[in-house]
Amino acid sequence: MPELFEKAFNYNEAKMAKMMGYYPYYRPLTNAIGPVTEMEGKLRIMLGSNNYMGVTDHPKVRQAAKDAIDQYGTGNTGSRFLNGTLDLHLELEEKLAKFEDKGGCITFTTGFQVNLGVIQSITQKGDVIISDAFNHASIVDGCRLSKAEVRAYAHNNMEDLERILKEIPKDTGKLIISDGVFSMEGDLANVPEMVDLAEKYEARVMIDDAHGVGYMGPKGQSTPHHFGVQDKVDIISGTFSKSFGSVGGFAAAHEDVIDYMQHHARSLIFSASMAPSQTATVLAALEVIIDGDDMRRQLLRNAARLRDGLSGIGFNTGDSETPIVPVIIGDEMQTFALWKYLYEAGVYTNPVRAPAVPPGKELLRTSVMATHTDDHIDRAVGIFETVGKQMDLI
Ligand SMILES: Cc1ncc(COP(=O)(O)O)c(C=O)c1O
Repeated sequence: MPELFEKAFNYNEAKMAKMMGYYPYYRPLTNAIGPVTEMEGKLRIMLGSNNYMGVTDHPKVRQAAKDAIDQYGTGNTGSRFLNGTLDLHLELEEKLAKFEDKGGCITFTTGFQVNLGVIQSITQKGDVIISDAFNHASIVDGCRLSKAEVRAYAHNNMEDLERILKEIPKDTGKLIISDGVFSMEGDLANVPEMVDLAEKYEARVMIDDAHGVGYMGPKGQSTPHHFGVQDKVDIISGTFSKSFGSVGGFAAAHEDVIDYMQHHARSLIFSASMAPSQTATVLAALEVIIDGDDMRRQLLRNAARLRDGLSGIGFNTGDSETPIVPVIIGDEMQTFALWKYLYEAGVYTNPVRAPAVPPGKELLRTSVMATHTDDHIDRAVGIFETVGKQMDLI
């Protein structure tokens, strides 16, 4: 009889990496995620978080979460569809719809569930989804749940997107989907050309701006707002697990499209809603973000300092234009070794291997927060320089 667990019993890759001291995952933090964070008994400069606006430690945001527990308790014990809708969810959705300049908004319990629910509900058999080859795993899985045909275009390549659009019959429903800020490389989707193509070939556009909402655009609305084309992007979505310092996610669109999702998105209807403290956190974080011009400026200054610092000492930082700064190594073992030596020297980064990046493009993903100081960044760059030279990488 075949043994179902054979693959697990024979899986040794992680065990080997642990034995050799190269295993980077599931490392516990023992305090709030900030510019410097305690991990495994040592303070380390945190260059591996998505806390771009630094709100997780904001006094107003922390207090809002505590107050919500006092008023509403710890959880909603049901889905938005039934007993899990709080007045807080409705307030948040109304504010986010306004923030994104759309007729309606719906919140989900995670950003991952946004993509599962939105894509599954709004596309059907006979439609075609045209998706960037570098899109996040949750978009890929949302496409798998959809009954529509899925076509991938080369990363951010508008010629390839047009080639595919041309091949699709005119009267077919089409949805172009892309990350706004790409999560591994920190580059921006070419939203202006994308919406022009969408207009030309009568396609709808969805931008998942999980990594851009909070600091892209004049008030942090998103990458479509940064380019001034928000009215031409049909669905703007994002998560609360990054700049909003919580968990959850949202999609904003025409009110009829939101109404349809509310009644057809399975990851929404069959999953419990965002807890009171999470929802209150996001409401408070939204206020901080709207008033956050200074923090946004500081974040972009910090990003430029880190990018210039790392490229100045000889590392390849790719095409990043955002607080996500990749350090492209192009070899898996060297990437993991660099991660280990940096970690031991007091800098936390995220090693990224295939399939999250194409083979040969292995990288350390670094990212900054608005709350990093020049000293944090300069010290981190100094450690990169020492370790990079020791390893003959620069
Ligand atoms: C583009 C994109 N979409 C969705 C998600 C999932 O978000 P969450 O962590 O809130 O589930 C991520 C997470 O990294 C992401 O990068």
